[in-house]
Amino acid sequence: MLARVRGRRLVLFAFILLSVILAAGCAAGGDEAGPNTSNVNQGTGNQGNDNSSESPEPDSSGNDQEQAGGEVNLYTARHYDVDQELYDQFTEQTGIKVNVVEGKAPELIERIKREGASTPADLFITVDGGILNTAKTEGLLQPIESEVIDQQVPADLRDSEDHWVALSSRARIIAYAKDRVDPGELSTYEDLASEKWKGRLLVRSSTNLYNLSLLASLISINGEEAAEQWAAGIANNLAREPEGGDRDQAKAVAAGVGDIAIMNTYYLGRMSVSDDPEEVKVAESLGVFFPNQDTTGTHLNVSGAGLIKHSQNKENAIKLIEYLTGKEAQEIISQANFEYPVNPEAELPDILKSWGTFEHQQIDFAEYGVHNPKAVEIVNKTGWK
Ligand SMILES: [Fe+2]
Repeated sequence: MLARVRGRRLVLFAFILLSVILAAGCAAGGDEAGPNTSNVNQGTGNQGNDNSSESPEPDSSGNDQEQAGGEVNLYTARHYDVDQELYDQFTEQTGIKVNVVEGKAPELIERIKREGASTPADLFITVDGGILNTAKTEGLLQPIESEVIDQQVPADLRDSEDHWVALSSRARIIAYAKDRVDPGELSTYEDLASEKWKGRLLVRSSTNLYNLSLLASLISINGEEAAEQWAAGIANNLAREPEGGDRDQAKAVAAGVGDIAIMNTYYLGRMSVSDDPEEVKVAESLGVFFPNQDTTGTHLNVSGAGLIKHSQNKENAIKLIEYLTGKEAQEIISQANFEYPVNPEAELPDILKSWGTFEHQQIDFAEYGVHNPKAVEIVNKTGWK
């Protein structure tokens, strides 16, 4: 019996140690580089090194709660300082300890699959609705039953069967050089493929999931053929071969390499408060345009949390999601990261208010995952690198 308790303590210690190592290895960058996942649906065992030898031993003994409030184990592909701050606050308020394992989304999915019924994971947190849907279709999640969450998060920001719930959202918009582009010239994503933008458009590599999910949404809305023509038009209009992340496209517009860039909103928010005065200048020189307001809406993506099917701390996991989608936590996430809150009660940071409100695409986020393989095929064909 004593040996079993010691064994459990050792397991817990190993788990905490691993969490600390992983957290330390992933500094304050956020998902700056963006998820580079060419196909979120592939991935049966070929995701390479996911440090499986360092995995915490699953605790098969059930509720091994070392602390008054127990614990909750997160596998997360989000790497923001603000996330950890919120986990700490949650622990302070509830006594529930939050153990964090960080990794890339496809690796975490593989790991949860491999660990099966004895996985220590309670929640899977990641960016991109397509990946959250992949976790669902792989059978890794279960419904989250909580009236608090249903009240705090609108239904269109939750999985249709509540297997996951969004924690924040971001819009993929057109940033334009205020001194050279009249926003009256801008209209839709579709229009960016037209001749008038030749040599003026900047966007990061098509292998990035932000672009693949945008393309997947256009496949869903306009069909495969139109989406392929669109991707070819984008490739044809680029001011330079894709390089860098979204932030680099903004800098290139400010430097005059091109006139407009497709990018996520929160990068402009972050640049506006950057320690680097050059980044502040870049953010100030750009305008934000929400495309497709008269048609199908602006492309929106989410970060979200899915409840693991074999969660051994289900109640605590749901409590954590209730906390993270509460007004207070939502305002903290939005103020720190400039993502949009999912809770309509949360107040927006001033810069987000200044961009105004917008209509977003009305499609199931699951579609991003469903059309991902086709999107990969299209960009490979059209030469958008
Ligand atoms: Fe990002």
